[in-house]
Amino acid sequence: MKRAVIEGGRILTGEVKISGAKNAALPELAASLLTGEELVLRRVPRVKDVETMLELLLELGGEVHVGETVRVKMGTVRGDPREELFRAMRASVLVLGPQVARFGRGEILWPGGCSIGERPIDFHLQALRKMGAEIREENGRIQAKTRELRGARIRFPRITVTGTENIMMAATLARGETLIENPALEPEVKDLADLLVRMGAKISWDRDGLHIEGVDGLHGAEHTVIPDRIEAGTFLIAGALVGKKIKISRCMPSHLQAVLEAAREAGVEFQEGEDWIEVKGGGQFRALEIETREYPGFPTDMQAQFMVLLCFAHGVSTVKENIFPHRFRHAEELRKMGCDIEISMGRAIIKRVSKLRGTQVLATDLRASASLVLAGLVAEGRTVVEDIYHLKRGYENFFGKLKNLGAEIKEE
Ligand code: EPZ
Repeated sequence: MKRAVIEGGRILTGEVKISGAKNAALPELAASLLTGEELVLRRVPRVKDVETMLELLLELGGEVHVGETVRVKMGTVRGDPREELFRAMRASVLVLGPQVARFGRGEILWPGGCSIGERPIDFHLQALRKMGAEIREENGRIQAKTRELRGARIRFPRITVTGTENIMMAATLARGETLIENPALEPEVKDLADLLVRMGAKISWDRDGLHIEGVDGLHGAEHTVIPDRIEAGTFLIAGALVGKKIKISRCMPSHLQAVLEAAREAGVEFQEGEDWIEVKGGGQFRALEIETREYPGFPTDMQAQFMVLLCFAHGVSTVKENIFPHRFRHAEELRKMGCDIEISMGRAIIKRVSKLRGTQVLATDLRASASLVLAGLVAEGRTVVEDIYHLKRGYENFFGKLKNLGAEIKEE
């Protein structure tokens, strides 16, 4: 397995350009199943999960061209994609809703994904059933079929990002109106809605929720994927920890307000503009109490990275993980580097330490691996992060961007 080797203590400075958002590109690629015409997406990040989605679409019979832009055309759907494509990525569930809507049938395997705890898709299936799909599950396969999807009033048991995306896509071709009473409001969901409207869908939001009026068909479209707010947040923490001055450009600070507010409260020094953030490191940090919430709350995908900053904050910080209660496996690895973190009842209690020391640690999921790299940048000595493939699932050219800023990091 590949690993990252980091020599800590290097001061980072310069500019980093943020890539397109993985969690917007994935549902937007799946949206190509809603039409037989070509979809053209710009600023699709070259990350493993996107490659997996493209392979899935190819093996469903699609035409895929990857160049400066990504072009996908899903004429008819046939073929039986390899199981590992479904197991490798939870977002594979997103090909179900569009297939059922356009062809009256769809099949997926129970998706895999990160190790951040149980990743069920029962909300997706319940909602499709309510829209008239017959769902059968046998030996790991999920088959959905229907003569015609009908619009329905959907209230998920709890807010779900890909659940909202899956049902929103299915509803674009259902008969009648669908109302999702408690939609996820993440920028990636909104960006998908913008694309679907460009494809001819009828979607609107009001205080009752997300309204989708079914139409007979959708056409092709062009779209530029929004920048990745979690990548931008990750570089903000890098800058706070070991930056002299880092300019994070081509980002959208408006998508990161909860993280920026927490960073400001913790004492991180930064300026923000329309599409950039400039962060200066070397300050003293103050302890915080953080709770992860659905958007616009503090994002669970930034919890592991922010925890590294809190290890240096004066006082006692706490992090309550409300989305994935088990998403603390990075804490035991950070402890090996000298962090003082206790986990109890879904909450991390973090006490200040003056320094971290490099050692061998194990990456367990996408954002945990980012937090271990951040810790390696600030630790004394050498840090080796094993199983670094997790990081490649969601960060485009992460090591190259860090090296350009002055980090001493290599993959072997
Ligand atoms: C999306 O996952 C993101 N992935 C995750 O990012 C992100 O952490 C998560 O939203 C929360 O923001 C993509 O967009 C591809 P959920 P998703 O459905 O949609 C429970 C990353 O790092 N639930 O919003 O899978 C679930 O267990 C990844 O880029 C059910 O019980 O998350 C969780 O506790 C990691 N049944 C909560 O709801 C369901 O059918 C929210 O999950 C669906 C969800």
